Amino acid sequence: MDPIGRRIDEFANRVRAVKADDLYFYLQPVEAIDGASVTIGGRSLLLGSSYSYLGLIGHPVIQHAARDALNHYGTGTHGVRLLAGNTDLHDRLEQRISAFSGTEAAVVYSSGYLANVAVISALVGRTDAVICDKLNHASIVDGCLLSGAKFIRVPHSDTAALIRELTALPAAMGKLVVVDGVFSMDGDVINLPRVVDACRQSQATLMVDESHSLGVLGPEGRGIESHFGLQDVIDLKMSSLSKSIPSAGGYIAGSEDLITYLKHVSRAFVFSAALPPPSAAAAMAAFDVMEREPDRVRRVQSHARTLRARLRDGGIPVREDPTPIIPVITGDDVPALRMSRALYDRGVFVPPIVSPAVPPKTSRLRVTVTAAHSDDEVAQIGDAVVGAWREVMLEPTVARAVPGAPRA
Ligand SMILES: Cc1ncc(COP(=O)(O)O)c(C=O)c1O
Repeated sequence: MDPIGRRIDEFANRVRAVKADDLYFYLQPVEAIDGASVTIGGRSLLLGSSYSYLGLIGHPVIQHAARDALNHYGTGTHGVRLLAGNTDLHDRLEQRISAFSGTEAAVVYSSGYLANVAVISALVGRTDAVICDKLNHASIVDGCLLSGAKFIRVPHSDTAALIRELTALPAAMGKLVVVDGVFSMDGDVINLPRVVDACRQSQATLMVDESHSLGVLGPEGRGIESHFGLQDVIDLKMSSLSKSIPSAGGYIAGSEDLITYLKHVSRAFVFSAALPPPSAAAAMAAFDVMEREPDRVRRVQSHARTLRARLRDGGIPVREDPTPIIPVITGDDVPALRMSRALYDRGVFVPPIVSPAVPPKTSRLRVTVTAAHSDDEVAQIGDAVVGAWREVMLEPTVARAVPGAPRA
């Protein structure tokens, strides 16, 4: 067998072994969504791993906007936006995003992943440097690699290392610093004031991925700047539109000139079709709902505090962060898979997260809570996670052996 065939074969065998042990929780076909619950295999499970932090999936105003757009514009567009695929709806969505973000303009891509890849590779090239936090999202890493720029990764949240790397670069070199606002697998918040200082000292451009801070941080969910009481300190604000905003797509908000540049130079904008109109309309309506229903932001923030406290009281070591992402670290893969199974048996759905989504030996459950959960449901998730933790992590003698489980 050739090396490619061998690679596929080995991987498929590992997946088969996990399935044989009844520990495979990826790609679960959700049949229905009802508030904070999902139906899988005819069974209703409480979702403890949603990205929809504000619980806006199914919101009547957003549903209505998507239906209207479907009736008015249809399911697709006439191709790429630069040519015949643009609509007034796409323009209005970008205006809505820039108004929300407090920037001059914005551009929308058909996914958050594409936005990161497209923008980073359009901004920097072989003569520049791009500096990343070690735990930045994969789409940022891929954008950096594609760009061909000198790619520097600094240890997680290490601003001293960031300053060292920036000052070691030639003054005339183009420098782009990219960080996540909230780190998607750990739930911690970047120290924005210190990163901003570091960038200013070296005249570096700053891009922040707000996919997990939008709707979550700040008194009205306006994101990382408002969390720190800052304004206009980020050059490029990026976010996915598939988390707090219950749609699809990704955007960059920034200066008018930056957005003009990206709309003509970034390849995923120039060479890929526009976001489907129903998705654009849903995203636009969701920004309105977010502003009109600020209680959702308060709710998710309060649920996050409650759940963290409950897990800590149950003996699980969790960090104190102001976000609804709570990693429960098992270390090895097998306990993470078994924790998912134990939770599933308790009626809660939280798939395991293993390498390469997280560094090897830091496998985990990424437990999340949303504004759609009731107080009782938050308590149920807490009790289930504590119960699963005790079963899997504190009573290893009753653990089932899983000989064929995949290794990171
Ligand atoms: C931090 C971060 N950036 C970007 C993305 C990509 O967003 P999308 O799912 O819209 O492609 C994700 C998605 O998980 C993410 O967590």
